[in-house]
Amino acid sequence: MCGIVGYIGTEQAAPIILDGLSKLEYRGYDSAGIAVFDGEKIITQKAVGRLKILENLTCGGERLKGFSGIGHTRWATHGAPSEKNAHPHRNKTGTIAVVHNGIIENYSILKKKMQNKGYEFISDTDTEVLAHLLDYYYQGNPLETIIKVLHRVEGSYALGIMFADHPEAIYAVRKDSPMIVGKNDKGCFIASDVPAILKYSRTVYYVDNQEVVELKKEGMCFYSIDEEKLVKEPVTVEWDVNAAEKAGYEYFMLKEIYEQPATVNNTILPRIKGNEIVINELGISDDELCKVEKIHIVACGSAYHVGMTGKYIIEGLAQIPVDVDVASEFRYRDPILQKGDMVIVISQSGETADTLAALRETQKKGFKVLGIVNVVGSSIAREANSVMYTWAGPEIAVATTKAYSAQLTALYILALKFARVKVIMKQNQYESMLTCLQHLPDQIELLLGQKEKIQYLANRYAGSKDIFFIGRGIDYAISLEGSLKLKEISYIHSEAYPAGELKHGTISLIEEGSLIIALATQPKLYQKTISNMTEVRSRGAKVMAITFESNKLMEKAADYVIYIPETDPYFANSLAIIPLQLLAYYIAIGKGCDVDKPRNLAKSVTVE
Ligand code: G6P
Repeated sequence: MCGIVGYIGTEQAAPIILDGLSKLEYRGYDSAGIAVFDGEKIITQKAVGRLKILENLTCGGERLKGFSGIGHTRWATHGAPSEKNAHPHRNKTGTIAVVHNGIIENYSILKKKMQNKGYEFISDTDTEVLAHLLDYYYQGNPLETIIKVLHRVEGSYALGIMFADHPEAIYAVRKDSPMIVGKNDKGCFIASDVPAILKYSRTVYYVDNQEVVELKKEGMCFYSIDEEKLVKEPVTVEWDVNAAEKAGYEYFMLKEIYEQPATVNNTILPRIKGNEIVINELGISDDELCKVEKIHIVACGSAYHVGMTGKYIIEGLAQIPVDVDVASEFRYRDPILQKGDMVIVISQSGETADTLAALRETQKKGFKVLGIVNVVGSSIAREANSVMYTWAGPEIAVATTKAYSAQLTALYILALKFARVKVIMKQNQYESMLTCLQHLPDQIELLLGQKEKIQYLANRYAGSKDIFFIGRGIDYAISLEGSLKLKEISYIHSEAYPAGELKHGTISLIEEGSLIIALATQPKLYQKTISNMTEVRSRGAKVMAITFESNKLMEKAADYVIYIPETDPYFANSLAIIPLQLLAYYIAIGKGCDVDKPRNLAKSVTVE
């Protein structure tokens, strides 16, 4: 989704802002713009399409001289991607510029009011109303003006603002949309996400809801919405700068696929001490865990698919009933929560608007929330009652791979912990599962070394119109993620079905030569899945099966077989997903798609 970068200091602002915006490209956007104070006035440049176009127009920022500025990458919500709708938006005289992430929910009422006062609107955006409101209230004091405007607007926002007659400062504001500020000896920075300024500053401050930051070249001041000065503690970001670079890979997605052995390891390692699972960071005692009677997992996209796998595993291993909900549904269905219930939200970014709202809805009902989150300091990480981090490092490609694997691992650890405290699992099963868990990173590494067969199949099927995924139980959960990966980056229509359900409608789409990918990693369901494979093969489909090395039944039942190393079937998802990620990747490459930035998608969905 939209990205914001701002800078004020002793260096030229535009190159720094463009560089920062390039680090946010992964979030998804369709136009970009920048405003710089050139010593006399605010000058702006906007462009539709890739940031590269804006960079070319400004010679990498060289043509916009000045020591302060704000920039934005826009993912269209109100109004099509166009120059007039791109940010920054300005007041009529061009003396105030604003960039905005989020949505101003009461913008149409405010717009009418401003139009009645004679303000002319040139864009279709909700953001433009802010520029005119700032103009309306401005009497020479930027801070006072911003605060007056904040009292008028409803919705979510992260804002970067500058005033031409106060060139010594730029301003950052936030409500329900991520925003950080940072500092080094050459100036101060605003960013909607850490990677944008990681190169310049590791000391960052998280801006909290309804706070305003005044940034000057020598430092910054934080204010509450009541204009009181606030004291904030800096946070040191541990992420490696190189983690946000491609390191020789053609795409971030491929790099992140190859980082999975390390990611899974990083999620396991700190939590296994000898033969015990230790998750002290939760601050939940074994006794409390033991009292959990029902779990609700709430998430969006791939994180929701992790939740689906979690349901099978937690129910299977710990015998605790699990409901899994898409966050946008959970938040509005007035979910029934009862004593003994635990709510777990899963999110890579920690900023997904629906997941955050589900968390708040739960807390409003008086229940605590456990967050499984990747981004340290994100909104979900800060608002959840306890947090289990996934330590995947920055994930840049829109289509998640390594964060998905880390989330799965976190759920395995939780499931085993529940089984342990509830004394449900036999000691030898527990120990054997711990061993399997610790072997996963090496087994993922092994699978990554065998990509040739996948590349061959990707070439063969890159021209497909539809590709279907089927599986039962955990295999259905894997199918959902395999299908999502494929459709999001290759634009091939794809559906995932519980294998037994396909014949209740969707089988009518199967034609001669259609590709069906069958997941078969659950021994007790092998025969059942094979029956469903036979049904589609007898209608002309080709079947590619993914199964364990020991399952020789598949040689005859499928047209192609991809084998994964043996592990406990409960952990099969971690291995079976690897060929599916690679397949999606190589098909998308074969079709010439922009793998890291698929059309219409955003990495961090901060609007409903
Ligand atoms: C977007 C991304 C998906 C991601 C989902 C949830 O739709 O494109 O890859 O799974 O959001 O994101 P989260 O950050 O909450 O895990």
